[in-house]
Amino acid sequence: MRLSCTSEATALRVLHRSKTRSLECDIPRHGPRPAFLRAGVLFALLVLSACNPSNPVTDPADTSRPRTPQFEDVAFQAFPHDFMWGVGTSAHQFEGGDVDSDWWHWEHTGHTRTGETSDVATDFWNRYEEDLDRAAALGVNTFRFSVSWARLYPRPGMDAPDPAAAAHYDAMIAAMRQRGLRPMITLHHFVMPQWLTAEDRWASGAAIDDFVALARMAAARWGHAIDWWITVNEPYVFAFHGWGHGIFPPGKFGAWNTGIQVFVNVMKAHAAAYRAIKQLDATDADGDGYASQVGVAQLIVPVTPLDPFNPIDRAAVTFVDVLGNRLWFDLNRSGVPWFAIPFGGIIAADPSVRDTLDFIGVNYYSRQVIHFDLLRGLLLDPDSTGQRDMLNHEFYPEGLYDALDIVSGYGLPLIITEHGVPDATDTLRQESLVAHLAVLSQFIQDRPDTPVLGYVHWALTDNFEWENGYWPRFGLYAVDYMTLTRTPRPSADLYARLITAAQGR
Ligand code: GCO
Repeated sequence: MRLSCTSEATALRVLHRSKTRSLECDIPRHGPRPAFLRAGVLFALLVLSACNPSNPVTDPADTSRPRTPQFEDVAFQAFPHDFMWGVGTSAHQFEGGDVDSDWWHWEHTGHTRTGETSDVATDFWNRYEEDLDRAAALGVNTFRFSVSWARLYPRPGMDAPDPAAAAHYDAMIAAMRQRGLRPMITLHHFVMPQWLTAEDRWASGAAIDDFVALARMAAARWGHAIDWWITVNEPYVFAFHGWGHGIFPPGKFGAWNTGIQVFVNVMKAHAAAYRAIKQLDATDADGDGYASQVGVAQLIVPVTPLDPFNPIDRAAVTFVDVLGNRLWFDLNRSGVPWFAIPFGGIIAADPSVRDTLDFIGVNYYSRQVIHFDLLRGLLLDPDSTGQRDMLNHEFYPEGLYDALDIVSGYGLPLIITEHGVPDATDTLRQESLVAHLAVLSQFIQDRPDTPVLGYVHWALTDNFEWENGYWPRFGLYAVDYMTLTRTPRPSADLYARLITAAQGR
């Protein structure tokens, strides 16, 4: 895959387009930028590289791959007794019928590549009990899910949630607990009520209070049952796919500066929600010593230069790494605005964002190899020959170690809140599960000072994969979308065996 980026928002585009959307080459719509702008980007890369204290951690020279780890390579004893083993879902991608959401509107106005719409999705809304049975049968003890903001607040205003929707989630959460599944809730997983997006409330900042209202309601209502809270899933993806790439609602192509403002507003909303949840949820739901642990799930993409001896490649890597992987956490830990995006605007995060994380959720799928070409701009994976999944992610288990290493410096516990493989054949997924858990066990052994609390596999079943529709198959269970029947893939049994081995049973 070859992807060139020539705009001033290069790093953001590279890193966050690259994850799930990399099948499509990103052909610049306005042709190459003038040479002076490229020179400016180059200059910025060099300056940033020189200023940045953090170094990319991936060994750039290592393009060869070691032998893929086997079952016996997993150091099962590394996983603590109370390790969270989980599977992941999100409301819009599974429930179906999210009719008052911006995504519903977006899909039904022709914005998915396949023309597909979420419609009933996997019908999790009606089938959650049987799916939770499936999750429990795997032996997991943790279930990651999100609530649909649009179902809870379908009409303008955040005064009170829709009683039927809220009651439905009451029952869903109770059903998790009845099966011994620890609910890990996400409050903001990309999808907004249509009214909120129509009023452009993230750009204006009005959504900050809206989100705090959602968090307050959720903490007051479900705090007795939930200890693990993810405020926002992948804030970069939300901000820059919506404003910039324009491939998520509201589809503001090229609006990078607004995207930065949205990103800052999301960070402020997270911080205010963090405080609200900590204040309102003082109940330790499962007696494990945690009443409310609040974090964010961040896509972490280790980046590495194509040519380790090329200073421009190295600088580009630093630029992308700092901006894409570390900025949220740097701001969260220091609370001061310190970073300016060349030609883009200034991130002026409110100092109140400081220290508003109890853990870091790491969504890891793959790495990126980067080359900066003077004529063509940034190139992704220019010569990659590695094994690829349905969404063109490189199979690179070692990158999980690098991703954890990147965020380990912030002194917070880590949870792998997503890792998975789109693979209808289930061959790569099986290899991937074992290999990533082997890498994870190695990290846990090597780094006793960085607690890793859990691993959540994406996903329990196949799902609606945003602008890609239904064809990328992430499920441990295959879904036949004609009949909505679920069939376990071999990976389901494999994951169950891995968990059993880790738990010493
Ligand atoms: C995302 C989301 C999930 C995806 C998953 C697979 O990162 O886009 O968290 O909703 O479905 O990551 O791409």
